[in-house]
Amino acid sequence: MTLLEDAALEPVRELGLDEINLSEQSFWELSEETREGAFATLREQRPVAWFEAPDVGDIPGLEAGSGYWALTRHADVLEASRNPELFSSDSSRGGTQMIDLPAEYSEFFTSMISMDDPRHARLRGLISAGFTPRMLGRIEQAVERAAREVVDSVIEKGECDFVLDVASPFPLMIICDMMGIPRSQLDFVFDRSNIILGAGDPDYVADVQDMVVAQLTAGAELAQLMEELRTERIARPTDDITSVLVNAEVDGERLTAQELSSFFVLLAVAGNETTRTAISQGFKALHDNPDQKRLWMDDFDGLNATAIEEIVRWATPVIHFRRTVTRDTVIGGQAVKEGDKVVMWYNSANRDEDVFERPFDFDLARSPNEHLGFGGPGPHFCLGANLARREITVLFRELFSRMPDIRPTGDPDRLLSFFIHGLKRMPAEFTPGALSAS
Ligand code: HEM
Repeated sequence: MTLLEDAALEPVRELGLDEINLSEQSFWELSEETREGAFATLREQRPVAWFEAPDVGDIPGLEAGSGYWALTRHADVLEASRNPELFSSDSSRGGTQMIDLPAEYSEFFTSMISMDDPRHARLRGLISAGFTPRMLGRIEQAVERAAREVVDSVIEKGECDFVLDVASPFPLMIICDMMGIPRSQLDFVFDRSNIILGAGDPDYVADVQDMVVAQLTAGAELAQLMEELRTERIARPTDDITSVLVNAEVDGERLTAQELSSFFVLLAVAGNETTRTAISQGFKALHDNPDQKRLWMDDFDGLNATAIEEIVRWATPVIHFRRTVTRDTVIGGQAVKEGDKVVMWYNSANRDEDVFERPFDFDLARSPNEHLGFGGPGPHFCLGANLARREITVLFRELFSRMPDIRPTGDPDRLLSFFIHGLKRMPAEFTPGALSAS
């Protein structure tokens, strides 16, 4: 089926229950419809299923560790997210990735996302202190400016690659503006964050044997960039968030240099590919569902609040996160033991027939919409959810008003990943228009 002929998403139950293996790369190479069919089968017949860890081959430095329980129902993902005392995110227990990451990773990659309270609450409190009303105003301006700029960068051409030219630079520009990273470093941050998140895809890391080294190097380089900026902002503060963060105090404590660097690495990774994916998948879904697109274009403000949530549910940019069980318990009727890994499949929770009416329909007016695209309610609920919502709104508003007929002209190129539901490229065309006045 090609994107342009018939794009309704119909789950196909091609795999029998015992043929489903979420840890196999070949599963993630199957069509979206077949994967949706497999998750529907799991939700129905084996909602807490055991899988061996993915084969990491002989990649130096990587060990997959034990297998995991796959939580595929909405109710179970909700329960694990809500109970951090029972389901830990802490790196000391293995963190939030499906495979146990090498200890060296902790230096760059264990910001608040892989911490339990009280370490988590302290760091989240310090970071949140940086998001003052004045700073939010500045971010708002950065979002509007970035939307104008990305559209300006292509509007005269009549064609572009929607992912590479629009959806990718947009969130990146905003994060760099927020933090005070100069525009000249955009490509550098873009490349490094792609290596960290897209490392399973040969487009980003050519030789999988080099993956660990490539990721660590990319993390170290981003950390180094932040360290230089930190030193500069301590000496000469400006009005960016880095200047606020180097001075933010909660209960007399400040962020250390290492905490600031790994927070930046987290932002560059967590705030970038996720929003890029929501926007790219949203763009494709709007094209595939022209009636929905028309409804939104006709009443942008009226439909916006529910439309963004539906885009995030539909796209589910982050496919899963892991927790580790802290004491023997039962989840979804399955006994699990202290030390067991549970993997929360947000993509599956977001299609759960028990929670969503017609889950495979893209319905911009869907309400209620209790999707788990930003994670479940709990201490780790996405810190950037409001920023991401704003980014999606502002970009689609800009596109609808300045390039109303923009449309994909071919199938997108999917990212091969079981972690990010990404698109790498998607050609698009439109009637050329004029640059913005400002
Ligand atoms: C559509 C876009 C986005 C999606 C789908 C998304 C998804 C998620 C998810 C699923 C989590 C939960 C992790 C967990 O429970 O272990 C999370 C956490 C987080 N997100 Fe997002 N995110 C998005 C955008 C952003 C943006 C724009 C930023 C910041 C610029 C951001 C920063 C963070 C941070 C810092 C955390 C960790 C919070 C904590 O551990 O307390 N995210 N995000």
